[in-house]
Amino acid sequence: MEKITEKEQEILKTVDKFVYSKLSDDKTGHDYAHIQRVVKMAQRLAQDSAQGRLFVVLVSAELHDVIDEKIVADQTKAENEVRSFLEAHQVFQADIDAIFAIITHMSFSKNLEHHYQLTLEGQIVQDADRLDAIGAIGIGRAFYYGGAHGHIMYDPKIAPRQKMTHDEYRQNETVINHFYEKLLKLADLMNTSAAKQAAQHRTAVLEDFLQEFKAEWNQNK
Ligand code: ADP
Ligand code: NI
Repeated sequence: MEKITEKEQEILKTVDKFVYSKLSDDKTGHDYAHIQRVVKMAQRLAQDSAQGRLFVVLVSAELHDVIDEKIVADQTKAENEVRSFLEAHQVFQADIDAIFAIITHMSFSKNLEHHYQLTLEGQIVQDADRLDAIGAIGIGRAFYYGGAHGHIMYDPKIAPRQKMTHDEYRQNETVINHFYEKLLKLADLMNTSAAKQAAQHRTAVLEDFLQEFKAEWNQNK
């Protein structure tokens, strides 16, 4: 990937502070630590690629949750604020457009009804975000999210849904069903081969967890 210039490095630092101010008190699993993990993972995945702009990868990773419908009440307002912020820091218009094309189309829920073709940079950020939804941290985040939204952990009478629209996806009822409706599907949806590989191990962690969870659930029946 194209190396980061000194000026871009400065902009990245400012973007990071902006994101921290927006997400530092999130209690739904989309906190600043999630962003830091996604940025690091995206940087690692980007190393495998000769093409693309690393700056676009890293800024998109930083900003991907700041305009998310789950986090902000008014998405258009949040998008306008981010756009003005980038313009004020002299980010090239082409980069701003590339960043917005990524952060407004990369989410799992957005891709339920329509599959968006992302750029190489977008595919990397999407993979990094999705890797953070699986494995041990993914399990933690799912229960954390479920608790924050008042969902119960599990009810064997509520079957996971096979196919959902975007609105139905948001009305999930149990945390365990979220594993079947999303998390176990992510490994097959990874774009890059490094992420595919990492996803295999993390998915096995989910499968072991589900098996243990159900064994304990049924133990005293
Ligand atoms: P995206 O932003 O790609 O649409 P989500 O909002 O589905 O992704 O997921 C972001 C994080 O929140 C993931 O760690 C995911 O597991 C968790 N999460 C989202 N929806 C639920 C849910 N209904 N139950 C439990 N965890 C959820
Ligand atoms: Ni995210």
